[in-house]
Amino acid sequence: MGNLLSCANIRLGTRISEPIEKRIPVHHKCRNCGRKCDPSSPSNECVHAKYTRTGTKEQPAIIRSIVPDDRVSWSTPLDYSPIEFTSEKVLKSTKEYVDRDPRNDPNVVIPWNQDDRLCDRRSYHGKYEVVRGVPKNPCGRTGLTGRGHLGHFGPNHAADPIVTRWKRDQNNARVRHPTSGQPILQFVCIRRKDTNEFAIPGGMVEKKERATDTLRREFHEEVLNFPDLDENERDTLMTTIKNIFENGGTRIYCGYVDDPRNTDNSWMETTVYNFHDEEAKHLALINVNAGSDATDAFWEDLDSKMPLFASHADFLRRVAALHNSHW
Ligand code: BGC
Repeated sequence: MGNLLSCANIRLGTRISEPIEKRIPVHHKCRNCGRKCDPSSPSNECVHAKYTRTGTKEQPAIIRSIVPDDRVSWSTPLDYSPIEFTSEKVLKSTKEYVDRDPRNDPNVVIPWNQDDRLCDRRSYHGKYEVVRGVPKNPCGRTGLTGRGHLGHFGPNHAADPIVTRWKRDQNNARVRHPTSGQPILQFVCIRRKDTNEFAIPGGMVEKKERATDTLRREFHEEVLNFPDLDENERDTLMTTIKNIFENGGTRIYCGYVDDPRNTDNSWMETTVYNFHDEEAKHLALINVNAGSDATDAFWEDLDSKMPLFASHADFLRRVAALHNSHW
């Protein structure tokens, strides 16, 4: 933790292999760029139209104030009046792990940039600034102050396990993509209950947890739901998975992510690991079933055309590059 990440990582939303004119601007999923992206407008054609508001399907739509593409960085001047918004659910929460707002109560002291063991408030991008009592988003303006739907000011840490296997035919040979000619990888995919989008089965790091524990817990909760297994079978499966999650895995990314919930004072950072079963000996054999936060879970081919939640497509693109598979 604590190292300044390269520009390429900070700009995760930018598909860097694409020509400049096609690049997606920073804060693509947490900004209202002002160019025909008003969701209520019939001529709504902007790529980030659906992200002009924050929220989930149960929450009211809060439209972000406009931040043009070239005004995201704090160092560029802007006549800026962001909307202050923290959801009722966050404000009313009595959970010890959800922050109180230090701007409303001088007795609230939050150990910014530190890990107090209850919550790791360090950012992968080094020390963030604290301005007028609250952290400042290291990637720039979002058009919204407060916490939105996030429980913490500053970084909110998540972890994402990408479990992969090769797509195989009846003879167990790898299936190649008809156009690219490259072998096709499959990953464990879910449909999220909150946004209804396809996603990797990741989740928030809980209190006192390490991101590496979150990877296994989330995978277990969201996709390993086996009502038909007896206790012994379940235990055997869980032991295998535990070993793989503890001993295997390649780190794909860690740091800031372009997430629709990000605000000027609260943002998402994640740790992404790939657990790959090259020979189809263990993880590749599991049947996945939707659990807690997912309405569906299944093995899906890795392909750049699939629309995915938050920055998940960027992570899968990195996994495809790692294994030299079709993307
Ligand atoms: C999701 C993760 C995601 C993170 C950042 C979390 O809520 O569960 O999968 O990477 O947000 O977008």
